[in-house]
Amino acid sequence: MPISVLPSGAALGAEIDVDLSQSIDDAMFREIVDAFHDNIVVVFRNQHLSNAQHVAFSRRFGELEIHIVKKYLLSDYPEILLVTNIRNDAGENIGLADAGFTWHSDVSYRKHPSRCSLLYAIEVPEMDGTTLGSTLFANTIRAYEALPRSMKTWLTGRKAIHRYSERMRVANSPRPKLTAAQLAETPDIAHPIVRTHPFTGRRSLYVTKGECIGIEGVPDDEGRAVIEALHDHCIKDAFLYRHTWRVGDLLMWDNAAAMHLAICDYDLPQRRLMHRTTVIGSVPF
Ligand code: SIN
Repeated sequence: MPISVLPSGAALGAEIDVDLSQSIDDAMFREIVDAFHDNIVVVFRNQHLSNAQHVAFSRRFGELEIHIVKKYLLSDYPEILLVTNIRNDAGENIGLADAGFTWHSDVSYRKHPSRCSLLYAIEVPEMDGTTLGSTLFANTIRAYEALPRSMKTWLTGRKAIHRYSERMRVANSPRPKLTAAQLAETPDIAHPIVRTHPFTGRRSLYVTKGECIGIEGVPDDEGRAVIEALHDHCIKDAFLYRHTWRVGDLLMWDNAAAMHLAICDYDLPQRRLMHRTTVIGSVPF
């Protein structure tokens, strides 16, 4: 029996009806991968996953990243990053409270950015029956395809410079400042603005104004203006999917074909708790 895949009807996103706590043979895994590449964002609803199962399923997509902000990793599963606004009794954040508050593609600041990320919803905020803390995704393949030919030509061979510390700029970020060692570990890195998907060969835009500081070989002002224009183009309604979370969702997104934004429309006592694994990808080309 083939797996059931229900597209969202938006520019990306689909639900896959598989219980990830059960064993998944190679044939079924290939179907999941195909559905993932076709839909860019896929959600598995109603999951009951242990940390070990979350990590084991994620590992089938590749080696897992150990996030640079070590204090928010689970001690016995350092592959899992806590993304949450919850604080301990001392009032300290127990996880990254501002992950994804600017549009980005995960780990674009590395030479080997992420192939995909898998976020597991454990607590989802709501108020008066309305679910809060949704996540927006933009299909950057469709965004690239919709560009005028002259812009595609201009972008050919150009690289944008990604800077991790740019993402620290969210106002009042509770995230600890990067140490000198962390800054040294994350130097600026240039990636193609138009990248080719390593599995499907499709081209997408790979640039966000939240973390790209310029374009190699282009004057600063002009580079920033192009980055902003491309960013604003990518987040047009026609390219978006909005994910409204339910407890038990395991949602994964393709960082080579989408960018995303976590919407912070909640605050304590409304709690949001997510476990994220991040699969390392290949050098963008
Ligand atoms: C992230 O960018 O990894 C977090 C996304 C989210 O919390 O919705």
